[in-house]
Formats: sequence, C-alpha cells, structure tokens
Amino acid sequence: MAKPIGIFDSGVGGTSIWKEVVKMLPYENTIYLADSANAPYGEKSEEEILRLSIKNTELLLDKGCKIILVACNTATTNAIDYLRSHYDVPFIGIEPAIKPAALHTRTKKVGVLATKGTLSSSLFHNTSKLYAEGITVLEQEGKGLVELIEAGKIRSKEMKTLLNSFLQPMLDQDIDCLVLGCTHYPYLIPVLKEMLPSNINIIDSGEAVARQTKAVLERNHLLEKGQGNPKYMFYTNTDVSVIKELIDRTSAQVSFLDF
Ligand code: SIN
Repeated sequence: MAKPIGIFDSGVGGTSIWKEVVKMLPYENTIYLADSANAPYGEKSEEEILRLSIKNTELLLDKGCKIILVACNTATTNAIDYLRSHYDVPFIGIEPAIKPAALHTRTKKVGVLATKGTLSSSLFHNTSKLYAEGITVLEQEGKGLVELIEAGKIRSKEMKTLLNSFLQPMLDQDIDCLVLGCTHYPYLIPVLKEMLPSNINIIDSGEAVARQTKAVLERNHLLEKGQGNPKYMFYTNTDVSVIKELIDRTSAQVSFLDF
C-alpha cells in the first residue's frame, strides 16, 4: 500500500478536515487517529497536549505515514513547533482562519470561537497580531462544545443553549464574521446557520488546510498521482459509532484501538 497521510485529532472533529483532504487528494491513502478517550485537549496543560501529540505522531509514524496533519487547533498551537523540530516528516497544522476573516469583515469586528488551549497559545496571539491589525477580535471559549460533539449531541437542546450563550455577546458587539477555531466546530455549521443572522460569515480552515497539504506533498515529491481505490483507515480509542456516522463512507474501515 502506498504510504498514507496520517491525521490525528483529540477526537472526531478532525474528520471535518479529512473530508476536505480526500476531496482535494483523491488518490491518497489516509490513516486517522481519534484520541477521543482524551478529549477535549483544550482544557489540558501545554505539557499534556504535547505528550498526547507525541504519542499520536509516533503511532502514525509506526504505521508508515509520509506526512502528518495535526487536525486539531489546540494540538497545533501547543505542539507543532516541537513536532516539526523532532521528526523528519512534514507536518501540517490548523490555525484559526483570522486572515480571511480580517479581509472579509466590514464592521471590523470578528468573533473567534475556540478552545481555551488555542486562545491562550502564543501562536494564536501572533496570528491575530499579524493579520488583524485594526480589527477587533472577540475571543470566545467554546467550553463544553467538544464534549457534546463527541457524544453525538450536535442538534441537542443543550447544544443550542450553550451556543446561544457564546454567540449573543459577540452579536451584541456587531461581529460580521465568525471564525471556527476548532476542527470539531464545522459540524455545528448547520445549527449555527439556523441561529445566526444571514449576514454573518462563518469561516473555517478545512479547504485551506487541504490546499496546503497538497502543496507540501508536491514540494516534497510525495503526491500520489496514480489511480485506484484509496484506503481510508480510522482508529478510535472509544466507541466507533460516532465517527462512523460523521464520515458516512461505507468503504472506510473504522476500528477500535487502545492507544
Ligand atoms: C479539543 O480537543 O479541545 C478541541 C480540538 C481543537 O482544538 O481542534
């Protein structure tokens, strides 16, 4: 089997990125690790996020991955520098899409919904400083959202109540762009669209990350150009049913792995 793209996340959310990657790179095999037993990473210390990111990386490298996509904003902001300097393969990370939001906004007010671990990281602050000069960035911690998504409660009453408490203060301050700074959150887009006024742009990083993955594979002569049926393997250390429902691909193989 041709060497796969390795993808890891604190749980099922990074499958939102996986979907964009396989759309843009139809010949690539992929292996996805959902570390749901340790979700959410966003509430953990930097040391713990780093330890878990190293564990996931080494497992993917043992499985022969040629590139690793850190499909988790919290792990990217807290661990990617370390990973890049300690392993030979290329790493792709996810950064909140502050730049496109700063280019789109008319009110000059942008909301960012992300985990505590992402919002408190220096990478997030540097990105905001670099791309959002003259723009007010309203940061909102999405405490509790990842747990509900991991439990498959995307359309629950609990979810809507929680989202409303996060969105209203940002709407009161006249945001017109909402950046989804966690790879779990794109699964909330249908609910968010029902709750938000139609002038609010919801921005996530999925497509940009897939484009970046393609560019890095090309630059490193790692791009799979052949045809045939790619293999999609998913490993989770909790119940397989949530991930199966989200990816909705019968050809993918989803297995339990105690990691
Ligand atoms: C989390 O595990 O807290 C969320 C993952 C992310 O930041 O993308």
